[in-house]
Amino acid sequence: MTDAFERILSFVETELSFATSHYNDDYLDRRISSRIRRTESDGYAEYYERLQTDPAEHRALLESMSINVTGFFRNPEVWAGIRAIVRELASDAGQLRIWSAACADGREPYSISMLVHDDQAIDPASVEILATDISEPALETARRGVYTGSRTADIDDQLQFIDEYTDYVDVQEGTYTITDQIKRLVSFERHDLITDDPIPGFDLIVCRNVLIYIDAEHKRPMLETLSKSLRSGGYLVIGKAETIPPGLDTSFCTLEPRLRMYSRR
Ligand SMILES: C[S@@+](CC[C@H](N)C(=O)[O-])C[C@H]1O[C@@H](n2cnc3c(N)ncnc32)[C@H](O)[C@@H]1O
Repeated sequence: MTDAFERILSFVETELSFATSHYNDDYLDRRISSRIRRTESDGYAEYYERLQTDPAEHRALLESMSINVTGFFRNPEVWAGIRAIVRELASDAGQLRIWSAACADGREPYSISMLVHDDQAIDPASVEILATDISEPALETARRGVYTGSRTADIDDQLQFIDEYTDYVDVQEGTYTITDQIKRLVSFERHDLITDDPIPGFDLIVCRNVLIYIDAEHKRPMLETLSKSLRSGGYLVIGKAETIPPGLDTSFCTLEPRLRMYSRR
């Protein structure tokens, strides 16, 4: 990577307080290059100069670096597996604690809450869902629980995973509002999976599509946080395109390799 690229990264790290060192270079390069094109800058050096004088570009760059693509019931085949795990866990007496780690704008934890409410065998009062993310703006959207479809996200299509989803989501002219009943089960908090402490005692952690962006060195603290937060025998689900690198997988047994489901030793 060029000196100018490195200068941009250290500017983002020190002046904008975004820990670029946690992410892999290819990912950072794609995000920065996209801002270079958008601003019609002539390469890294010119874009670096722009960052010195244009505070609006600071916000735009930070926004483009936060990887917040998500959806309701993303990869439905995985959600069939999550449903089976939740059902099994809920059949044991006692409180069931679920963590949606890196929850983005809330569609993932609300999917879990809908799954719980839609299952006759589960008493929703016995389930707690914690949802966390590093991004405050994402958490603000999540707490509001109001979503609109876009060219790339057909919300109606995503929600079809639940037969009668309109029991849980109010739909009006392309706006989807999560009902209070579904919201009540979920609490939102800011949490950085790399630098913040583990949160012990979870039966199930769903942590999908964030490991893939983290560089090799920071995957270790992240996976340690996850393993220390799971009770022994608890379950971890990561993203479909993600893997736990060899050497970092010692706390986990593979349950269902295709669906990236693990249990804690
Ligand atoms: C691609 S989204 C995944 C959302 C959801 N889990 C899913 O699979 O649809 C990645 C999320 O990870 C969050 N994130 C990135 N680094 C993080 C960190 N160190 N700790 C917690 N969340 C982080 C981002 O803010 C973003 O909301």
